[in-house]
Amino acid sequence: MPNIDWDKLRFEYSTTRSNIRFKFQDGKWDSGTLTSDFNVSLHIASSCLHYGQECFEGLKATMSKDGKVRIFRPEQNARRMASTSNYLLGPELPEELFVDACLRVAKDNIDYVPPYGTGGALYIRPLLIGTSPRVGISPSDAYEFIVMAMPVGPYYKEGIHPVDALVMDKFDRAAPNGTGNIKVGGNYAAGLMPAKYAKDRGYPINLFLDSESHKFIDEFGTSNFIGITQDDTYITPKSPSILPSITNDSLMQIAKDAGMKTERRKIPIEELAELKEVGACGTAVVITPISNIAYRDEVFSYGDTCGPVLRSLYDTLTGIQFGELEDKHNWLLEVK
Ligand code: PLP
Ligand code: COI
Repeated sequence: MPNIDWDKLRFEYSTTRSNIRFKFQDGKWDSGTLTSDFNVSLHIASSCLHYGQECFEGLKATMSKDGKVRIFRPEQNARRMASTSNYLLGPELPEELFVDACLRVAKDNIDYVPPYGTGGALYIRPLLIGTSPRVGISPSDAYEFIVMAMPVGPYYKEGIHPVDALVMDKFDRAAPNGTGNIKVGGNYAAGLMPAKYAKDRGYPINLFLDSESHKFIDEFGTSNFIGITQDDTYITPKSPSILPSITNDSLMQIAKDAGMKTERRKIPIEELAELKEVGACGTAVVITPISNIAYRDEVFSYGDTCGPVLRSLYDTLTGIQFGELEDKHNWLLEVK
């Protein structure tokens, strides 16, 4: 039994019992091995190291009220990773292999899942890397698919509280026909400097505009944008260069279930002045409410506490994840 102070957990890396690894060679995947080795041995010319032929995913397993551990919508992450791999000219990654890998690693590390009531989760991090030596730029022949997992605390200890965001006018996250809609590591390397720029100025998160015109909202550095209009419509940007967030998709479904209108459409920057509530959503945080958004010399304000609509969406999604509310869309997959 690991000796973990569940109350001290943050969203940080920690080592657990095992990770699982699958090798792709000669056009096929092996059946995967659990290992307690947390290092990888790579050829110094591996395509993932030089040309960024790698991608990752992030999802959570939570302990429900009934003591069972369940993973949230793993097949959605499987599909997103398959689409990322496809763009990177990587191997086909079957959905069953991905889901089975998550189940096996969660099962082997089941005692690292934060107990019900702590608000924490087992964060599952799948990683796919090209391992063949390459100097000329071409895709790898060999790959490794690794899934690690670690306990993480609730993002906000004292409950969700709003933060301020800075609109990025000098930086872009993704090119119009680039890789913004897939989860390649390079997107996050490119996001480090803009995030630092915002943090240095006192903004914990940054909001990117569409890089072609800078007239429409794209997404936050590591999460999708949600707005609640004056008439309680859930709006979220439609853009080819944002990551299709599984949390956003789930919250939108919950909003529909609650009888709200939902719209996925272009959101002009001026519309920020008309919104009632704004949030950033993603697996790690579920929803971060936004207090103020600074754009050039303007500031758009949404209050110092989480608004009631986002609060209710947050409570419903986390209620489903912790088995307190009915999982009517069959989003949870039990780890047995
Ligand atoms: N947008 C970006 C750029 C992200 O990195 C993430 C997190 O993975 C999200 C959105 C949210 O996606 P999801 O809800 O699937 O975690
Ligand atoms: C999320 O899970 O919401 C993320 O933003 C993932 C990030 C840590 C890369």
